[in-house]
Parts: sequence; structure tokens; C-alpha cells
Amino acid sequence: MRKERRQQRERLRFVSYLYPFPNRGGSEERAGGVPSRKKEKIMPTVAIEGRDTFEVESGKKLVLAIEDSGYDILHRCGGYARCTTCKVHFLSGEPSEMNPAERETLEEDGLLGQYRLSCQVRVTGDMTIDPPDRAGDRGIPAGERPED
Ligand code: FES
Repeated sequence: MRKERRQQRERLRFVSYLYPFPNRGGSEERAGGVPSRKKEKIMPTVAIEGRDTFEVESGKKLVLAIEDSGYDILHRCGGYARCTTCKVHFLSGEPSEMNPAERETLEEDGLLGQYRLSCQVRVTGDMTIDPPDRAGDRGIPAGERPED
């Protein structure tokens, strides 16, 4: 009986040597490079009404997500909440938080409650939006790319 157990342990050790388990230390992957379901990251999706739906890394600025999807959204002030050209109308998934700069600019332009500034919004959940201003439609450059 003891001999059998010892042989079994030696076989297991040999197999472990041949096929190491990379996730023993708490890695996010299971053996064989398969991501663990528990820690699998689910990326939020952004849908542009009547156009594309795409996945976005959580926390990314909405204006950058829109632009990186190939939509030529305007951002004439470079993402400093001054111009409102990056405004979007939310059909769903509007974040509840709004920073003071965004609120002040929207109030000044009479847009509060209708639009949000995509340069001030971070994508943290699924959302459907309608961005009304495109560089191509206006025939002007989009503006300096906002910082991450
Ligand atoms: S307000 Fe100017 S880019 Fe957003």
C-alpha cells in the first residue's frame, strides 16, 4: 500500500514536471493559457446610434473610444470641457457623475440635461449614444486629440 502511494506521488511529480500548472500562485490564467472565468474582464460596449457597436477598455475617455472606432467626432478644445463640440446625447447608460467643469460648460451653453461632454465621460458600463457633430459634416478638423 505504501509503495503504491509512493509510486503514485512520483508519477504525479513527474507529470507536474512535464505539464506545470502556471496558475498555482494565483495567476489570472488556468493551465494551458485559458483565462479564468472568475477573473475574466468583461469590457463595456459603446453603441453609436445607427452605426457601430464596439467594446471599450473600462475607464477610457468616451471621446477617445468614439474616435478610435473610426467615427470623426469633433473635439475642438482638445478635451478641456470648453468647446462642447464633443457633446453626445445618451440614449442609455448615461453615467450619473458629472464633474464641475462639464456641468459649468453645459449650463453656460444651455445644454445641461440634453447632452454630455464625451471628453469628460469615462466608459465604465454599456452605453448607447448619439454624437451630433462630425468633423466631416462640418468640413473642419476634429481638433487636437484629448489626453487619455
Ligand atoms: S468640450 Fe471641447 S473637446 Fe470636449
